[in-house]
Amino acid sequence: MTEITLEVNGVTKALDVEPRRLLADVLRQEFDLSGVHIGCAHGACGCCTVHLDETPRLSCLTFAVQCDGSSIKTVEAMGGPSADHLLQQAFKSEHGLQCGYCTPGFIMTLVPFVDEMIASRRMPENDEIREAMSGNICRCTGYHGIVAAVRKAIESGLGENA
Ligand code: FES
Ligand code: FES
Repeated sequence: MTEITLEVNGVTKALDVEPRRLLADVLRQEFDLSGVHIGCAHGACGCCTVHLDETPRLSCLTFAVQCDGSSIKTVEAMGGPSADHLLQQAFKSEHGLQCGYCTPGFIMTLVPFVDEMIASRRMPENDEIREAMSGNICRCTGYHGIVAAVRKAIESGLGENA
């Protein structure tokens, strides 16, 4: 066992983990964060994406011991206490989800992209959006609603900051 300290969604916790334990399993089992979904467990689907020190990372390909001392954010901490992130709101209004299994992964992958576009005051082409989410698989939506949600979130952010 190895003792590590993780800051997860603002809460710091020390825990003993086996070196082979995956970050996805530790987040689900030790932190009760069931929004970390596991689809393929080998880096193909993107369902398990979280932010590790503010960068999207596949938690099924990351050992928990590699994250000692790091800050991790999961979909449970997206948005604020009273309102979802603009992208979460847009997923609802633009039908960006059906069963929802892939949704946490898409949100965690695309929030930095949306934030970057809003900060640079730019609306990307659809192909650029598709490229940004190319590491995530959705088996239900056909992706059109997800692309529309990204455009809507950026549009809303640009309107708010006009
Ligand atoms: S569960 Fe991690 S990429 Fe599929
Ligand atoms: S909404 Fe079902 S897999 Fe994407």
